[in-house]
Amino acid sequence: MSIILHAPLDMHLHLRDEKMLANIAPLSSHTFSGGLVMPNLVPPVCSREEIIAYKERILKAIGTDRFTPYMTLFFKPTYDRSFLESVKDEVTALKLYPAGITTNSEGGVSGFDIEELRPALEAMSDLEIPLCIHGETNGFVMDREAQFVPIYEKLASAFPKLKIIMEHITTKASVEALDRFKNLYATITVHHLIITLDDVAGGMLRPHLFCKPIAKRPEDKEALLKVALEGHPKVMFGSDSAPHPQHAKESCGCAAGVFTAPIALQLLAELFEKEGASVEKLQAFVSDNAQNIYGITPSSKRIVLERTPFKVPDMYHDVVPMYAGEEIAYSLKEVLYA
Ligand code: NCD
Ligand code: ZN
Ligand code: ZN
Repeated sequence: MSIILHAPLDMHLHLRDEKMLANIAPLSSHTFSGGLVMPNLVPPVCSREEIIAYKERILKAIGTDRFTPYMTLFFKPTYDRSFLESVKDEVTALKLYPAGITTNSEGGVSGFDIEELRPALEAMSDLEIPLCIHGETNGFVMDREAQFVPIYEKLASAFPKLKIIMEHITTKASVEALDRFKNLYATITVHHLIITLDDVAGGMLRPHLFCKPIAKRPEDKEALLKVALEGHPKVMFGSDSAPHPQHAKESCGCAAGVFTAPIALQLLAELFEKEGASVEKLQAFVSDNAQNIYGITPSSKRIVLERTPFKVPDMYHDVVPMYAGEEIAYSLKEVLYA
């Protein structure tokens, strides 16, 4: 049995830089038609020149694969209208990080004073540039995302024409916020549809499942699954595939991030089948919804997945993937450009 996905999109992707970029970008560009590339490099991508140069490095890394890197800029409240106008054509979205909340986010936003954010967010709203947010407070780790929901709501009502994407949501609270505001959207990872905190820390500690936001409770996972499986039009797939070298994960002080890029579509196919959801819903989740939300038209690519077991490699270069060394139900059969 096989299934075909058209122009899959990964709307939250970390491609890193230099050697890591060269190693891992092809693992996304092979099977996806495009991806929203996160700007949290060291230093973060903050200028027009940096976006253009980073995009060129990405295109070099993916070689002849048909893949569009949809670029993002690291949000700063100091950006003014003329600067935003000058970057508009180079970016698909801006990415807002609360300061210090996750990997390489030190230069992000502290405090969410609407008046301080107003000039930049009003300009983005007028210019129709979406805002992606890593929505966590610095509160207790299990409550950080739910505590951020009122901030999402404050922003969504203060800037009703601004498209706000709640990135990598992990809680029922975020799912419920989706339908309260017309301009709130969300990405969901594949790992958060599969694991809970129990898988990360309930038995032996699993560093390769440790990420921000941390996986939550079963009822949160169920709420995420529901909207993903029904192909909810405001929800898109974003892997948050976030590679770190093995030494940074298997260490005292484990870096946050789960690496799923090469197996994400296979895992989604398995999950949707197990849960009895149709291929049409999967297609909506992995591409169509993102096309509608972002107004993008990815280049054509058909991914043929086959229901034959695939043994996930122990490593991709120096990165350990989710399910390393284990068998998953679907494998990649073919990538067609026609
Ligand atoms: C991401 C990374 O490593 O860049 N890590 C993660 O745990 N998700 C950053 C992020 O998306 O928050
Ligand atoms: Zn994040
Ligand atoms: Zn991320």
